[in-house]
Amino acid sequence: MVDSLLHFFLFASAVLMALIVCIKSTKYRNKNKKRFKLPPGRKGWPFVGETFPYLKPHHATTMGDFMENHISRFGKIYRSNLFGEPTIVSADAGLNRYILQNEGKLFECSYPKSIGGILGKWSMLVLVGDMHRQMRMISLNFMSHAKLRSHLLRDVELHTLSVLDSWSVRRTFSAQEEAKKFTFNLMAKHIMSMGPGEVETEQLKREYITFMKGVVSAPINLPWTAYWKALRSRSSILRVIERKMEERIKVMNCEGIYGDGDEDDLLYWVLKRSNLSTEQILDLILSLLFAGHETSSVAIALSIYFLGGCPEAVRQLRVEHLEIASNKKQKGDVGLNWDDYKQMEFTHCVINETLRLGNVVRFIHRKALRDIQYKGYDIPCGWKVLPVFTAVHLDESIYKDPQQFNPWRWQKNSSSAAAMSGNFVPFGGGPRLCAGSELAKLEMAVFVHHLVLKYDWELAEPDHPFAFPFVDFPKGLPIRVHVIT
Ligand code: HEM
Ligand SMILES: *[C@@H]1O[C@H](CO)[C@@H](O)[C@H](O)[C@H]1NC(C)=O
Ligand SMILES: *[C@@H]1O[C@H](CO)[C@@H](O)[C@H](O)[C@H]1NC(C)=O
Ligand SMILES: *[C@@H]1O[C@H](CO)[C@@H](O)[C@H](O)[C@H]1NC(C)=O
Repeated sequence: MVDSLLHFFLFASAVLMALIVCIKSTKYRNKNKKRFKLPPGRKGWPFVGETFPYLKPHHATTMGDFMENHISRFGKIYRSNLFGEPTIVSADAGLNRYILQNEGKLFECSYPKSIGGILGKWSMLVLVGDMHRQMRMISLNFMSHAKLRSHLLRDVELHTLSVLDSWSVRRTFSAQEEAKKFTFNLMAKHIMSMGPGEVETEQLKREYITFMKGVVSAPINLPWTAYWKALRSRSSILRVIERKMEERIKVMNCEGIYGDGDEDDLLYWVLKRSNLSTEQILDLILSLLFAGHETSSVAIALSIYFLGGCPEAVRQLRVEHLEIASNKKQKGDVGLNWDDYKQMEFTHCVINETLRLGNVVRFIHRKALRDIQYKGYDIPCGWKVLPVFTAVHLDESIYKDPQQFNPWRWQKNSSSAAAMSGNFVPFGGGPRLCAGSELAKLEMAVFVHHLVLKYDWELAEPDHPFAFPFVDFPKGLPIRVHVIT
């Protein structure tokens, strides 16, 4: 859908953003010169530092020239100047783990200000401390293990089937868009009981496309910039959520707790059981709807892409899923259950390998809360720290032939399994581990199950995932499918 020209525009505007932020913070940079033994590195250009080359789009299955060059020159921990701040970049698996585990103690989540402007000041990506813990509890409850088993699994399957069934009468289409349809409809249903195809759902889906472009672009609030349009989309999205909220409150007041089957959605839960303010609820729902569909749809598109280039893996998946399906048929069972899901062993290897090589979330933003020493280097208090997961996931000392899509490397008999798992953090970790990680894996597994049983597919045109740095397919991953008979 989105073409590469547009992406170039987004990239250029990200750089502009960096410029603006940088000008603000040059004062601060000069103060931190004292006795620290900083990691080696470069400052780059005045103001922008090295932000330009750091964000340069590259194939999503690589760490990019910038990372490669800096690691070979300075090592896995180096100093730079990014997003207008003095920064330590870490491609070191041990340091990344240390950062994740010490969240709130030595390090703290610290995203650029523009993220708060657009996701809202009550968004979980921005909050720290007690308020973050409270919001996190609500999200975890919403996606608890029990909920996954009792409701979500069934619904994930129904939404998968509704998307996949629509393919049988079509020939060529964007797999990325279809994956997005699936994850968005699922989230809209579970967060606010909005049905697929309803006018409001479709309106919301359109607003989120504009919204997404603003999240990744420069925070320049002038008419017609991506950021300006995204802020308008934010208001429209909030209006829809607020309308839903008012409707719900009315129903709850009139009919007591026995509404019309909506008791299981997140909106009901926060209204009934939490003490959040309206503003907090709006930001929570807006961000969850965002986090819950943009990432997992990319992950599903990546799995379609990687499997398309690996017929042997598709063959082995088919064996696994045919066995599950025929066992169910014999028992007269319909619908996947939790035991079926747990049986999908090779599928889980495929999921891990997709996330390792595709790296949906490539790095996260942190800052040091005090002076920290690591491997003989100092990280001064207040400096930004960027743990880069991609660099670890593509590290050849941990993953043999890292560029190879090789799901078999995750099989239990593989000798390096422990090292691979310990350093594998596609969902982050510690107190901010992705709240939706289990749901995301469930979505991928169920989607793959029905995909390999129903269809053969191939790319209709060459396309590659790029890191912009958000991962996207410039042509939307156009595929052609053939029904398996
Ligand atoms: C393959 C798909 C996904 C990937 C790769 C992914 C990755 C991540 C990562 C790396 C973080 C940590 C960010 C940080 O520490 O700064 C995160 C946080 C989060 N994710 Fe996901 N995510 C995925 C899917 C989902 C889904 C489906 C949902 C929910 C519906 C979700 C909800 C969240 C939330 C609420 C947080 C914030 C957690 C907190 O701050 O405590 N994610 N995700
Ligand atoms: C809501 O309740 C929690 C305890 O459950 C409390 O810690 C928090 O401060 C309250 N929040 C507000 C906004 O009143
Ligand atoms: C996939 O990775 C996770 C770590 O995120 C690990 O616990 C799990 O065992 C891996 N799965 C397989 C099949 O290797
Ligand atoms: C693990 O076992 C499978 C068969 O179960 C085999 O095909 C594969 O090559 C083995 N992998 C390793 C690394 O030994």
